[in-house]
Amino acid sequence: MRRQRAAFGDAGPGALDAAPIAFADSAPRVAGMTESLGVDKAAAVEAPIHELLAQRWSPRGFDASRDVSPADLSSLLEAARWGASGGNTQPWRVLVARRGSEDHARVFATLAPGNQLWAGAAPLLIVMLAKTAFPDGKPHPSAEYDAGHAAALLSIQAEALGLSVHQMGGFDKPRLAEEFGLDADLLPKAVIAVGYLDPVADLPEQLAARERAPRTRMALSEFILNP
Ligand SMILES: Cc1cc2nc3c(=O)[nH]c(=O)nc-3n(C[C@H](O)[C@H](O)[C@H](O)COP(=O)(O)O)c2cc1C
Repeated sequence: MRRQRAAFGDAGPGALDAAPIAFADSAPRVAGMTESLGVDKAAAVEAPIHELLAQRWSPRGFDASRDVSPADLSSLLEAARWGASGGNTQPWRVLVARRGSEDHARVFATLAPGNQLWAGAAPLLIVMLAKTAFPDGKPHPSAEYDAGHAAALLSIQAEALGLSVHQMGGFDKPRLAEEFGLDADLLPKAVIAVGYLDPVADLPEQLAARERAPRTRMALSEFILNP
């Protein structure tokens, strides 16, 4: 398998037509490389991909002293808003919880203990929910798929803004639904920790080791069923 760096400069002429998007207002990105971790977290790609995709990873070390600006939060939600969805029904909803708020405490309390070890440092917890029924009560066939798609766009927008995202499925969904009095058709799918990476965060050694570990994936040939 040919492994190559994903950065545009390394992709070869004509590999990608699009120039990297400049985000004038965004914070400087730590990119996938985290010098303090001593490891390059960028994807080892089999084909060139946009650097926002290659550099994204899910850290556990968040800088608790650095807030996400209201403007950046708006951009994250705007990115999700423009996701594709079955029939343009947009069957996702979010709960936004800022660190220090009552809602944050309520969301945090639902996290699995292993996630509570690190996720509290992130200045934002965003709950992504799927609206699984239409107003007439009929089930929405693509609600969960669409909500995941919206979350993916949010993640990439975060990367573009110099933010890191770590999605979590490890939380008590019935408890969260009860806490927020959610309608039965609103399914909490993920809690998304958002903030700035802290490469020297004080993490338990087991988690610190996962921060340093290279990112891995199955080969393209393993998930293409009809190569
Ligand atoms: C739906 C979903 C649920 C996840 N749940 C958790 C979780 O509960 N705790 C955790 O530490 N990471 C969780 N993750 C993060 C994955 O472990 C991570 O994305 C995966 O290991 C790949 O690593 P990368 O995102 O750095 O490439 C979750 C990711 C997704 C998309």
